[in-house]
Amino acid sequence: MSDESKDQKLDLSLDSETSRNVERILTEQGGARGSLISLLQAIQKELNYLPPGALPIVARQLNLPLSQIVSVARFYGSFSLLPRGKHIVTCCLGTACHVRGAARILAEVSRILRIDPDETTEDKIFSFDIVRCLGACALAPVMVVDGVFHGKMTPKKAKNILQHILREES
Ligand code: FES
Repeated sequence: MSDESKDQKLDLSLDSETSRNVERILTEQGGARGSLISLLQAIQKELNYLPPGALPIVARQLNLPLSQIVSVARFYGSFSLLPRGKHIVTCCLGTACHVRGAARILAEVSRILRIDPDETTEDKIFSFDIVRCLGACALAPVMVVDGVFHGKMTPKKAKNILQHILREES
């Protein structure tokens, strides 16, 4: 599929407030003097994802083709073109975690957040991901919340961690 046809699938519309925010973030990052990756990272850091409508603004700032910006945003797994939650919960379902009960952790997270893996809560507070090994098998089963590893996870521990965040967010 050509970059051009991929671009046609992206909704590049952007509400005026988000558009102003993107312009501000780009200015704070030095505008055209910033590198493409650092500009995209800055937008994602503040908005929790890369709104596709922000990409034409970046393209104009850097005087680069939109197709190039879209390719970079799609290539790096760390960028998300879909809205993401403020908190990212990742459960490992790799072999070591699986044999130590990861499915029960996953079920508890789904139950508490009321979403399935690969989904984001409607209030955009949580996104829930699964991975196939986090490289910390000795700690299995592992759950990561906002980059912090929690090993030897149990459904009860998972519940406590999520409820603590829910209390803070309420
Ligand atoms: S299998 Fe879960 S950390 Fe390796």
